[in-house]
Amino acid sequence: MRRYHVTTFGCQMNAHDSERIKGLLEDLGLGEAATSEEADVVVFNTCTIREKPDTKLAAYLGEAAASKRRDPSKVIAVGGCYAEAQQERIFSLYPDVDVAFGPGSIAHLGDWLGAGGVGIARGRFGLDDRAFAAELPQHGERSYQAWVQVSMGCNSTCSYCIVPAVRGREQSRRPGDILAEVTQLASDGVREITLLGQNVNSWGRDLLPDIHTEFGELLRACDAVDGIKRIRFTSPHPKDFREPVIAAMAECASVCEQIHLPLQSGSSRILKAMRRTYDRDRYMALAEKLRDRIPDVALGTDIIVGFPGETEADFADTLAVVKEVAFESAFTFVYSPRSGTDAATMADQVPHEVKIERMERLVELTQSIARSKNAARIGRIEEVLVEGPSRTDPTQLRGRTRRNTTVNFTGSAQAGDLVDVIIESSTSTTLRGTQHATASSTVATGPTGVSGRL
Ligand code: 5AD
Ligand code: SF4
Repeated sequence: MRRYHVTTFGCQMNAHDSERIKGLLEDLGLGEAATSEEADVVVFNTCTIREKPDTKLAAYLGEAAASKRRDPSKVIAVGGCYAEAQQERIFSLYPDVDVAFGPGSIAHLGDWLGAGGVGIARGRFGLDDRAFAAELPQHGERSYQAWVQVSMGCNSTCSYCIVPAVRGREQSRRPGDILAEVTQLASDGVREITLLGQNVNSWGRDLLPDIHTEFGELLRACDAVDGIKRIRFTSPHPKDFREPVIAAMAECASVCEQIHLPLQSGSSRILKAMRRTYDRDRYMALAEKLRDRIPDVALGTDIIVGFPGETEADFADTLAVVKEVAFESAFTFVYSPRSGTDAATMADQVPHEVKIERMERLVELTQSIARSKNAARIGRIEEVLVEGPSRTDPTQLRGRTRRNTTVNFTGSAQAGDLVDVIIESSTSTTLRGTQHATASSTVATGPTGVSGRL
């Protein structure tokens, strides 16, 4: 049997796409190889959102090309956002690449590879011929957790971001298709789903006038699916976080008290230059409303440091917002110019040393807030979805709370179980505790979606 290997770079959407690439290759009759060295079809699913993938990809491709010289029947395929961005140049940059495909063209990979992944045509498909990766077969056995793609592409024009150029305009998946997938997942034993889109809560707008629906209704419909105990979604754009979604979050038992709400900057001036379409006050008002309406909600965020023109005063605004909102978690990124975006050619690019120094201050602040937020959980009982043995100590179990914090704990349970854990200690990123006698799955989950808390 011919075998494939997929290497994934980048975000959750890419991880989801890779699962579909694997499923498609398995449908073609290929088996999975443990390493790319052993594989007949070697796939790299690339990302270009933050870092320059060139060096990393070049190193991987160098290795793949060397083993192709030993075995010329090996097929090398490059997919994902970098392949899309470099579509004109990819074959001249990397002559050993046989197939290149963008994130919307996974469905066509089979045409390029042919039955058994042997016959190859050199080529690619573009954004004008997109299909939902979600409609493709998924790889491997089902676990208790799954990602569900609700939309692809993005209609925003954030001046730093390459996503609209490589993933195209937003296209929502039809609600019936999403619910059919969620229902199937539930009957396969999945207990937690994460709805995935570049801007999940603008979902549904492009389905008008045929279908009148919005993201809050989708949350309610998923909540009604038997067997689904936890629903998360990522990432919402603050500009589209409207009342129906807040109400659905507050009222649906299985929608978790966790929101990843990208801030990007705390300076209204920089937010304007980023074309985020909200300012500092609007963001803070939204965060306050979410904390008020969804009891015990955990807020996470993305922040970019050193956007062109960012002064010390702008950065101080970011620190102030971070302190005020007191995020439970934060992903912090050093601004990196992406060619083809407006910000890449803006004057006043911030010197590298300044970006690094600001980043250090920001990380120190976000970590100290996260540390005290986690310490405040000590003594509580948290409902934990078990993932398996702890990564650092196999005698312990690992799982996540509804607020999405990792917990290492002493207990006896299987992956996929919902258990109660009493929290005994914490760090800035994890909690530690002991399984509590009552199984959380038997504890009534109240209408506010709050369960297993003291
Ligand atoms: N430089 C740094 N960070 C970026 N992000 C997106 N584009 C860039 C860039 N050019 C970050 C944003 C976004 C996250 C997924 O990646 O914070 O929310
Ligand atoms: Fe990029 Fe902005 Fe769209 Fe997010 S909302 S994918 S940052 S353009």
